[in-house]
Amino acid sequence: MRRSFATSSAEATRGVGRALGEIVGAGAVVVLTGDLGAGKTVLAKGVAEGLGVAEEVTSPTFNILLVHVGRVELAHFDLYRLERESELEDIDFWGVLESGAACLVEWGDRFPGALPPDVLTVSLSITGDETRGIDVAASGPRSAELAEAWVATIAALPGVEIGDAEELG
Ligand SMILES: Nc1ncnc2c1ncn2[C@@H]1O[C@H](COP(=O)(O)OP(=O)(O)OP(=O)(O)O)[C@@H](O)[C@H]1O
Ligand SMILES: [Mg+2]
Repeated sequence: MRRSFATSSAEATRGVGRALGEIVGAGAVVVLTGDLGAGKTVLAKGVAEGLGVAEEVTSPTFNILLVHVGRVELAHFDLYRLERESELEDIDFWGVLESGAACLVEWGDRFPGALPPDVLTVSLSITGDETRGIDVAASGPRSAELAEAWVATIAALPGVEIGDAEELG
């Protein structure tokens, strides 16, 4: 399944992340894709907030992986700096994915063959200074259920418009 929506501010994107964090379960895998500055980390900060993570969440670009304690554990990856898929082993990528943590993987699309079959892919695109198109694609039943529940809860949030990203501009 696929769904699209748009946000009109960074706060709105953080809000949709927060809504995802409130419903995401242990072991879920969410891939975040989009250009530099598209808003992947903004959305991830919202997810952490929704999961009840108390500390401030920063971008794991230089650390590759940061783990936070919330309602369930949150594993936040940023694969931007990895050069080859074999480096995923060094950070125990698959072990963490199977550890029961809710996993957010920025730049997860860099190594598509490394991903499990059922993932929620959230693709952000820059459509203006303050606007972002957000495309959601589920590749299995578990992520489809999560996506449906998520999109239903964000429809009422300020700064969020559900629909096709191109129509919304
Ligand atoms: N609607 C919006 N949603 C998200 N971010 C927005 C929006 N409008 C403006 N911004 C700004 O865009 C930037 C997004 O930065 P962020 O670090 O989240 O990007 P990123 O996709 O994680 O980039 P990188 O690949 O470098 O990690 C922030 O400065 C944020 O304030
Ligand atoms: Mg980032």
